[in-house]
Amino acid sequence: MLPPIDPLTAEFGDLYDELPLWSAPFLERLLARVPLRPDLRAVDVGCGTGQLAVELAERCGEHARIVAVDPWSAAVTRLRRKLEQRGLTRRVEVQERDAIDLDVPDGSVHVVASNLGLNNFANAGAVLARCGRALAPDGRLLLTTNLRGHFGAFYEAFDGALADLGLGHERRALAAHVDARATLASLTAQLTEADLEVTHTETWSGTWRFADSAALFGHWFVRLAFRGEWEALVPEGARKHVFDAVAARLDCSGALELEVPSALVEARSARC
Ligand SMILES: C[S@@+](CC[C@H](N)C(=O)[O-])C[C@H]1O[C@@H](n2cnc3c(N)ncnc32)[C@H](O)[C@@H]1O
Repeated sequence: MLPPIDPLTAEFGDLYDELPLWSAPFLERLLARVPLRPDLRAVDVGCGTGQLAVELAERCGEHARIVAVDPWSAAVTRLRRKLEQRGLTRRVEVQERDAIDLDVPDGSVHVVASNLGLNNFANAGAVLARCGRALAPDGRLLLTTNLRGHFGAFYEAFDGALADLGLGHERRALAAHVDARATLASLTAQLTEADLEVTHTETWSGTWRFADSAALFGHWFVRLAFRGEWEALVPEGARKHVFDAVAARLDCSGALELEVPSALVEARSARC
């Protein structure tokens, strides 16, 4: 048995509490659907710093074998350190690569899961097809994602500001950006295209609240995951003007409540 953890070591403090609140509600839903077993064979696709892979390895025990795949070097380096610290290096194999090149035998895995990966895969169709081939005949694919419509009040204010400023080209780019997010229907179509059959779906809505637009734009996770893409939609010279106008629209009615429509989708191979 592994020894108790001493929270006072510098090493532990460095690695503690790294699951973004953004990811946590999705991960909780996803974990609730994984059929846990002591010999679990699973893949965490787009593992990032590996919360899902680590959690599966811990919850299934020493005979579990989890592959965690992600090309993001800094994240998987941190995951490797966590695995060392927690004594999980035998249970979790890290593959630092695009999931299209996932290295597991076809038909070998009970669960392929991805928490919030899908919106980030450049070639989602190819990733899903590779995931489908990895599944054992009774295996399941589990995906969570935020859906089109997330942060709706922000995007409405963004569009309104662009309209006020007569920036038609930028409005079209913004609409394309919003439409690029998954819907339940587009997700189902993508899975069908990848030879997968949807067997279960769940949708829910979270809310991200901010005191005002300055807090929204300054929040570390918004700066990490959203701000770069928002700014890229507007020419540099117009950015301050546009975002001041967005802020004015957002701040006219008190604290911000931004909805995050979300989904979990479960699928199996359509070949079985
Ligand atoms: C929003 S993050 C989610 C990370 C983590 N699963 C979580 O729940 O916080 C999306 C992840 O997908 C990874 N990713 C992007 N393209 C990928 C690909 N082609 N194959 C595997 N992972 C990929 C990113 O590097 C990133 O770690």
